[in-house]
Amino acid sequence: MADQNRAKVTIDREFKIGEIDNRLYGSFIEHLGRAVYGGIYELDHSTSTEQGFRQDVLDLVRELQVPIVRYPGGNMVSAYNWEDGVGPIAERPKKLELAWRVIEPNYVGTNEFADWAKLANTEVMMAVNLGTRGIDAARNLLEYCNHPGGSYWSDLRKSHGYKDPHSFKTWCLGNEMDGPWQVGHKTADEYGRLALETAKAMRLVDPTIELVACGSSNANMPTFPEWEATTLDHTYEEVDYLSLHQYYGNRSGDSANYLAKTLEMDQFIKTVVATCDYIKAKKRSKKTMFLSFDEWNVWFHSNQADQEIEPWGIAPPQLEDVYTFEDALLVGSILMTLVRHADRVKMACMAQLVNVIAPIMTETGGRAWKQTIFYPYMHVSVFGRGTSLQPVVSSPKYDSKDFTDIPYLDSAVVWNEENEELTVFLLNRHLNEPLDVSIDVRSFSSYQLNEHIVLENNDLKAVNTVQHEAVRPHSNGGASLDEGMIHAQLPKASWHVIRLGAKRS
Ligand code: AHR
Repeated sequence: MADQNRAKVTIDREFKIGEIDNRLYGSFIEHLGRAVYGGIYELDHSTSTEQGFRQDVLDLVRELQVPIVRYPGGNMVSAYNWEDGVGPIAERPKKLELAWRVIEPNYVGTNEFADWAKLANTEVMMAVNLGTRGIDAARNLLEYCNHPGGSYWSDLRKSHGYKDPHSFKTWCLGNEMDGPWQVGHKTADEYGRLALETAKAMRLVDPTIELVACGSSNANMPTFPEWEATTLDHTYEEVDYLSLHQYYGNRSGDSANYLAKTLEMDQFIKTVVATCDYIKAKKRSKKTMFLSFDEWNVWFHSNQADQEIEPWGIAPPQLEDVYTFEDALLVGSILMTLVRHADRVKMACMAQLVNVIAPIMTETGGRAWKQTIFYPYMHVSVFGRGTSLQPVVSSPKYDSKDFTDIPYLDSAVVWNEENEELTVFLLNRHLNEPLDVSIDVRSFSSYQLNEHIVLENNDLKAVNTVQHEAVRPHSNGGASLDEGMIHAQLPKASWHVIRLGAKRS
């Protein structure tokens, strides 16, 4: 086989990037489209709990082992009055929801979501409204959620049937406040000041919380990265994380270029890290800022259909991207990019979880199923816990419209020392040729090869539907381990999970 089709990876237990925070594999539920109503919640669904949570959806969420879910938005949070979503459901107001121009019935609010999160075995990442509201609403919501009792808002929670505080640990200070589409959009100085003062007040209510300040809505914003620098200039010592958001799409139909978009993502993360460290140096601070990539995914398939939705419906089908096989490959590459930045990116959220640009789809009143992107997300979430190791890669490369020197082989490695497991994630970006890969794992001489999972399909545009799961993994990858070297043939355009574990005696 020609060198153009051969790649080599060296893995060593000493090449540590950093500990992976499990929250790197988080997700997101916004009051948007059918994410909540018809998604996680449907009172009269045949599988629903008494409270209205769909068990078929919960089963799939649990399969993904989602560690944290951001809630309740997104754009929606910037005009949300959290008080509308607590107390007796029958008395809650129906309101115009301005971000997505729908009616919000408020059947689900903070307490119901906390209940759902328990069933889903996940944590909640709460966002406060810094669009139309500010310090007061944020500190009251925190008091309502986290204070044990004996104060107005905590006692109100108790009167709503929630004796114990929810103790939400992670809080987002608004959402995408740099975006002109945001209700209550702000300049970086306006946002930075408000975020700082809100953070101070919230920490007085509960000093144990962690706070996320808004970074740019995406790397193409004209104010990026000045927004980050100015925001952190105000907030550096009061916040723990800075957020990143980015969505990808194959609008031009150029798949070779599309699968290279993670090179851009990698650069985005590096630029945000550099900006954080610049402010750290400027402030002579000892504190390191961590990143929360709390919105990422593929989002473009549904853009046209969303133009045609009539306003002011309840839970219309918005942002219902149907994902292809090539989207799953890019999602695998996105996850590997996050893993390789595990030293600084501590949290991340696939946006979103159910029906809205989501790995899980449902029919309202019917079945639930897995989109193509479900699989790489599940693989990295389930097998990607531990220490991120730096793979040293030698791979043939290609150029595309927007990128040069794109390695055909993309990879990430996670070592779970406690469980004695080593997992190698691989993507062959070559659209027409297999890649012959040798992986040096001599530093793990006491390990054996346990499984080689593959996601492959001859059709880059193959999709899963409720009737037919065209894209699903198999475990017949055929990798072999001999004298510390793994050999694997990666078919054209394919995703791989090679799992090693301690030798069984
Ligand atoms: O996830 C969909 C939307 O994308 C979110 O509401 C917003 O934060 C982002 O622009």
